[in-house]
Amino acid sequence: MHKRSVTPLLVLAAALLAAPLACTQAPADPLKGATSQPPPVDLLEGATWSYSTDDGKTFSAEGPTVDPGEKVVIVAAAKFDVADPAPIAGLTLTTGLSPQVATDLSLNGKPFAPPLKEMTYREIPGVDPALLVSGPNVLTMTFGIMNGHDEARPLPPMTTTLIALKGENVAFQTGPALGYFDAEHFTVTCRTNVPIAVTLRARPIDAKGAAEILVASDKALMHRVKVKRAQGVDAYEFRLEAAFGKAVTTTDWLMAPRWSDVTDGTMRFAAAADSRTIPHQWRAVSLAIAAAKPQLLVFAGDMVTAGRSDWEWDEQYFGPAKEMLATVPTYAVIGNHEEEAPVYPELFYTPTPDGRGKNWSQQVGDVLLIGIVGHTSFAPGTDNHKWLERTLAESKAKFIFLFNHYPGWSSRGTTALNEQGVPRDKITHQSRTILMPLLEKYNATAYVAGHHHYYERSEPAAGVTSIITGGAGAPMSSRSQPDLTNNPHSKGVVSRLHFCLFEVSGDTCTMKVITPDGEVFDTRTWQAREVK
Ligand SMILES: [Fe+2]
Repeated sequence: MHKRSVTPLLVLAAALLAAPLACTQAPADPLKGATSQPPPVDLLEGATWSYSTDDGKTFSAEGPTVDPGEKVVIVAAAKFDVADPAPIAGLTLTTGLSPQVATDLSLNGKPFAPPLKEMTYREIPGVDPALLVSGPNVLTMTFGIMNGHDEARPLPPMTTTLIALKGENVAFQTGPALGYFDAEHFTVTCRTNVPIAVTLRARPIDAKGAAEILVASDKALMHRVKVKRAQGVDAYEFRLEAAFGKAVTTTDWLMAPRWSDVTDGTMRFAAAADSRTIPHQWRAVSLAIAAAKPQLLVFAGDMVTAGRSDWEWDEQYFGPAKEMLATVPTYAVIGNHEEEAPVYPELFYTPTPDGRGKNWSQQVGDVLLIGIVGHTSFAPGTDNHKWLERTLAESKAKFIFLFNHYPGWSSRGTTALNEQGVPRDKITHQSRTILMPLLEKYNATAYVAGHHHYYERSEPAAGVTSIITGGAGAPMSSRSQPDLTNNPHSKGVVSRLHFCLFEVSGDTCTMKVITPDGEVFDTRTWQAREVK
């Protein structure tokens, strides 16, 4: 028995009956599949469809005709033949409906679901090919439609596809992306287009006699690999490998980050934020970051427009910056547009015990880096506050940078003051009354944020520089008011694509703010902090 689903009726309203169903499959993605291989096959090509409007009790070859204003829940069944499921590594279902409006998905009577709850999928990957049988198969799904037109309309033909991916179609869909690294480890994340085990193969460089390292992940779509370096080996090249039958898919050989590069008294790291929505702009910024060869990047949030739309992670963040993410370890800080999506902690590897923590800190070289979830409470007495204060108090680093998606000082309107002279916005209020004073107390170097789509540097009297680096690709914005009403400490607002590059040498840290064309439009130098 299929449960009736009411919500999809409203979601689909009019869209289904206004025009033939449009396939919502993404345009061809250069990251998927090797072009020289045969294309994957749609098992539903030539399928026979039937429809039920009584919860699956009876089926008709004809789809229902829906009267004006009427809502109908339909169970659609596709019969198709499969000669031999054995060579199929994975199945991807594209319903042809608006994302995720189909419910009660089943293959040969066995239910299946999208990979992560609370995510929406344009393509549902990872459908288990073990659900297929040799011979006749049946796919069923339930969806609602509403006719918002003035006349009765028939259900348009189904455009559902069920793509059978074979060994030669296996691809690294997302990544590989380098995550945090330390004296003993480096980390890598990736996503494959079918559930499969992935092996990371690391070869020592300049270390005679040192053995190759193999680290395997479980059979899954998401892969998170933490590699422990062998004693005395600093440099590795590595690649990822996925094998199905005789077919082996590999990434290029990539360089793992070297800890010695950040512990020799010099260090360069980049900061950027707000890449979302305009992929070609983010691509330009990411290529400029890669060309600057920083030892790591801290990305301060808002990677995608809507974090729960699964496809945006590839289209807006990982795809455009593929080269940079494979060569520059990224330390991620969550923004509001990530929507606390469950896929977020799977995609990034942070310096926390399980790599999924969203509040993190790590001293890298002479710099303490701290990333926090600025939309959660850091009020005195909370675990967050205790952790942050302890982290600051214990640090002997020469420089401390806090990364929070949300700025404390900004010339945008959201940081404006109310009649009582405090920021209207709760998150800004917290940043200004709790976070900035904590940084001041421990003589930190700077507070780095995004959220507002421009560059702004502020120099409050207490001495902790406040930077907004929201120029990684999102639509540019500007200050709300031409004067300093919202931010008396502002040294200026620049609405240009950019990233920040910090170079540490001895007791000096210099920031350059750089456009994709290589123009430096702001610089700031800090001396090593006095440790209190
Ligand atoms: Fe934001």
